[in-house]
Amino acid sequence: MSAFLRACALSELEEDTPKRVELDGTPVSVVKTEGEVFAINDICSHANVSLSEGEVEDCQIECWLHGSAFDLRTGKPSGLPATRPVPVYPVKIEGDDVFVSLTQES
Ligand code: FES
Repeated sequence: MSAFLRACALSELEEDTPKRVELDGTPVSVVKTEGEVFAINDICSHANVSLSEGEVEDCQIECWLHGSAFDLRTGKPSGLPATRPVPVYPVKIEGDDVFVSLTQES
């Protein structure tokens, strides 16, 4: 059983604007886009920078430093320089609350 932790309120999320939260000491970027909410680890797999400062487009979050974009559904990078995926996490919405489970999806 995976434990879901409350990340934020759904009403706090703006479309395509990542929100950084810390869950059990893990930085997570919560993103509302295309009618869905995604949670991805907030640290780029290429270097130690915050993905939530990047832009969201086509269900991907782009690292602002060198431009690798990570798929919010799978965490996989679409191009160099990053080669490793970033963990993504299951999201559950109950009313106005967004919950994230740190159990890794992929
Ligand atoms: S630090 Fe993210 S692509 Fe280089």
